[in-house]
Amino acid sequence: MFGSASSLLDSQARDWPVFTSLMYVLYCAAISSLLLGAFAMVLEHTVVIPNDDPLIYFHGRWDSSPGTWWAGSGLKLNVKNLEALTLNLGPHTTGPWTSVGISLNYGEFSTANISAGCNVIPISAAFKAGPEDTTVVRVNVEGWQNNRMNLESIVLNKGASLVPYIPSKLVFEFVGDSLSAGQFLPNGVDQAWPFLVGEAYKAEHVVIAQPGAALTDIVSYGNQHGVSFQFFRTEDTGYFNTIDHNFTTPWNFARDKPAPTHLVIHIGANDASQNVTATEFVKVYTDFVGRLRTIYKHQPIFVFTPWGWLHPDGTTSRYYDGQYQKIVDTRHAAGDKNVFLVDTTGWLSYADVFPGNGHPNIPGHERIAREFQGWLENWGLEPERRWSN
Ligand SMILES: *[C@@H]1O[C@H](CO)[C@@H](O)[C@H](O)[C@H]1NC(C)=O
Ligand SMILES: *[C@@H]1O[C@H](CO)[C@@H](O)[C@H](O)[C@H]1NC(C)=O
Ligand SMILES: *[C@@H]1O[C@H](CO)[C@@H](O)[C@H](O)[C@H]1NC(C)=O
Repeated sequence: MFGSASSLLDSQARDWPVFTSLMYVLYCAAISSLLLGAFAMVLEHTVVIPNDDPLIYFHGRWDSSPGTWWAGSGLKLNVKNLEALTLNLGPHTTGPWTSVGISLNYGEFSTANISAGCNVIPISAAFKAGPEDTTVVRVNVEGWQNNRMNLESIVLNKGASLVPYIPSKLVFEFVGDSLSAGQFLPNGVDQAWPFLVGEAYKAEHVVIAQPGAALTDIVSYGNQHGVSFQFFRTEDTGYFNTIDHNFTTPWNFARDKPAPTHLVIHIGANDASQNVTATEFVKVYTDFVGRLRTIYKHQPIFVFTPWGWLHPDGTTSRYYDGQYQKIVDTRHAAGDKNVFLVDTTGWLSYADVFPGNGHPNIPGHERIAREFQGWLENWGLEPERRWSN
């Protein structure tokens, strides 16, 4: 089930000491068949971390099961003496699997498809640590749908232990639609510009983005609600089509630890497609920023203009031209100077989008990430020099 192209995750597991390798296969077998003798033997050789261990660093939006919603949500671990890792997932996990990105020690993310039950995460020899070494493990759901990972427990090799994961001082929160959620990318949000910017800055990053959704709270392309409603909820709008969780609950913003230091919003494509008038859009957006301010009192908020829809003949369809400036101006007039317009005009050309659906392709997302990083550096924000662990 693991990508063979990966240099980090060794699908052959050939570097495992034979015994450790055997133990984990046995672990999964014992769990699934309840061979109690084998189970007892395995337990002696493993460390089981329950899902409520305070040393698990959860990011993004998790419900109480606990399970993920929204592309990019996941967990981070800092593990001492890591040799082996198993994720036990519960029944609320997307079937037959959910795709996750996994990164060890801040290396590139590799995709794994994981399922309810026992998932052995192969750790190649290069990442096997000495007894006193620590390894950072990052796992996040890639999809904007089929993105539910219901964590029951984490199993480590005997002698391994969790130590605190220290989050980065920089924490980005991105708000948007398909253009931020990584729709149509093979590895979903892990290849999308918000994620790439977060990585380039060695930052924590959370992406609250819903393909098809308008900012206005209207039904739009299969979404029951707009982002101005759903942003304040735990679940993405997929809840509406979910049999075992057909409801939505308020998000407790105190759970964002640490709170975002920078907010980035790129939205409006679906409002335009649903014929929300410019006047209505400006009002909804300005009110949304006002409501964000009740949670994020001092953080800079970056308002993107759209790069528009690029056409093969070199023309661009634009929407809400000039309206984003009005939103920023209205906030400034209300005394909120910490809102900034990011003019993305000209950031993309037709070669940077998928023909047919006009969404940025892989080079397109990379280009947006570079352009925004350049913009941010010019504004005064430099990337962290090193990762926090
Ligand atoms: C995960 O599943 C998807 C969808 O079937 C497939 O395209 C992809 O190759 C799988 N990825 C891995 C790493 O197995
Ligand atoms: C979820 O509930 C709504 C009513 O609130 C209903 O219209 C919808 O069909 C339900 N979805 C599923 C998958 O049961
Ligand atoms: C929006 O307006 C256009 C032009 O009047 C119309 O063709 C289109 O059907 C409308 N779309 C929606 C979702 O109402």
